[in-house]
Amino acid sequence: MTPLSFFARSTIVACASLLLLAGCGGGGGEAQKPAAEPSAASQPAGRLVEITSNDSMQFSLKEITAAPGEALRVSLHNVGKMPKAAMAHNWVLLVPMEESAVLGFAQSLATRAPSYLPEDMSKVLAHTRLLGPGERDEAVFNAPKEPGKYPFVCTFPGHAALMKGVLVVQ
Ligand code: CO
Repeated sequence: MTPLSFFARSTIVACASLLLLAGCGGGGGEAQKPAAEPSAASQPAGRLVEITSNDSMQFSLKEITAAPGEALRVSLHNVGKMPKAAMAHNWVLLVPMEESAVLGFAQSLATRAPSYLPEDMSKVLAHTRLLGPGERDEAVFNAPKEPGKYPFVCTFPGHAALMKGVLVVQ
């Protein structure tokens, strides 16, 4: 190996390390997306699934069907008018569990303001943030690879009995 090629190799390694460091920065913990995300608007990350929520505690969609591993963008738009403190909504996708367990899971989050998400996220596959009137947010994720029924729910206190549905992976 010539000294020149060794220098070139070292430079490449150093640059790669710098990129990694830069990519790890930013902190905040919110939505860690791939570095190539700035053009998200022009290059959708997956199939768009639009859901609205309203002041009657209803999701406009109760069932979503997806292929195993399919890239999805679930967009929740809260079209309600009531103040966030009284009527907020999120969309939280869970691992497969009985309907009664879904309700219990949501009820256990009643004290988890302001996100109403658990400390232990092992049962949460994807979620939007909690939305007040007129707000929207997207959950960008891949459908599970394992075919099955994955429940989704709004975890705002008292909403899970009405605001629930299922992602069917088949
Ligand atoms: Co809700």
